[in-house]
Amino acid sequence: MLILGMESSCDETSVAVIDGETRKILSNIVASQVDVHRLYGGVVPEIASRAHIETISKITYEALDSAGVTISDIGAIAVTANPGLIGALLVGVNFAKSLAFSRNIPLVAVNHVKAHAAAAYLADPTLEPPFLALIVSGGHTSIFEVTDHRTFNTIGSTRDDAAGEAFDKIGRVIGMPYPGGAALDKLAYEGDPTALKLPSPALLGDNLDFSFSGIKTAALNYINSEKMKGGELNTADIAASYTKAVVDALAKKCDIALSRTGYRRMVLAGGVAANSHLRAAIGKICDKNGADLTVPPISLCGDNAAMVAMAGYFEYVAECFSGTELNASAND
Ligand code: KG4
Ligand code: ZN
Repeated sequence: MLILGMESSCDETSVAVIDGETRKILSNIVASQVDVHRLYGGVVPEIASRAHIETISKITYEALDSAGVTISDIGAIAVTANPGLIGALLVGVNFAKSLAFSRNIPLVAVNHVKAHAAAAYLADPTLEPPFLALIVSGGHTSIFEVTDHRTFNTIGSTRDDAAGEAFDKIGRVIGMPYPGGAALDKLAYEGDPTALKLPSPALLGDNLDFSFSGIKTAALNYINSEKMKGGELNTADIAASYTKAVVDALAKKCDIALSRTGYRRMVLAGGVAANSHLRAAIGKICDKNGADLTVPPISLCGDNAAMVAMAGYFEYVAECFSGTELNASAND
């Protein structure tokens, strides 16, 4: 059954067609607004909504065309309804609702964080729950027990900022264009990961939680004091030390989560799952715990509609349909 997926929760407008049963991607068009937001050093919600409106019809045609299908072939429409920027979400939700209503196609609402995890089903069509999932993105950092396709129990999460936001913040301060995550990833290879002493984002105690505000402040204080001394900033050392502290914290809590729960399967997904240091570190702790790791390819880590369609397929199978009263929500 073909699912048309739609994603507009932040700064990527994306429409995709997948085959739900075989988990095959027929098309996955992603129109990024990053160049526009870069001028402001971050996502401007009002601009994001307007850009989604301009793009969404065009890329819907493109997604159908490049899949070689028409709207009559579509069995269900899946749309990200939460969480995200409310104005941006409303564009996708309203568009999907109108299309579903006018063509009498079943509509399913998808949670964006669960959609990130669903990218793993596309990466490995044999993957089945239960597994542990570390979802790390610009807005989220959580460890879930995924007990079936639609049931996610949070066992750890950030108490403040998300890992992606923490990378972007330091990236910006050391002169990387928005979003800084990918650039910081590369630069970290050129620096000394032991150069800076930074507090760990892994919270102490018997929990699987994180806090990124402390490491952000410590890195900012270091950068400001170096600037005041008038010396040259060693941005590679900053990138390497910062990345190591963040990655070690995420890996440490996943290690505890795997050994505590006994799961032998792990999924790493979300925009920050593109980070090469994190991929390697989570790979290591999975080996140590005898667990299989599924990480989507980079193209499915960032926001895209194929993952939304995949999550939507499971909503369809569970007959969890939405009516024309469907609304977007900024929250989880
Ligand atoms: O999942 P995503 O596309 O959007 C949200 O749902 O938030 O994640 C975007 C985040 C940004 O913070 C970006 O800097 C980060 O993913 N990111 C990375 C890398 N590539 C993207 N962070 C670290 N290393 C990377 N290679
Ligand atoms: Zn995302």
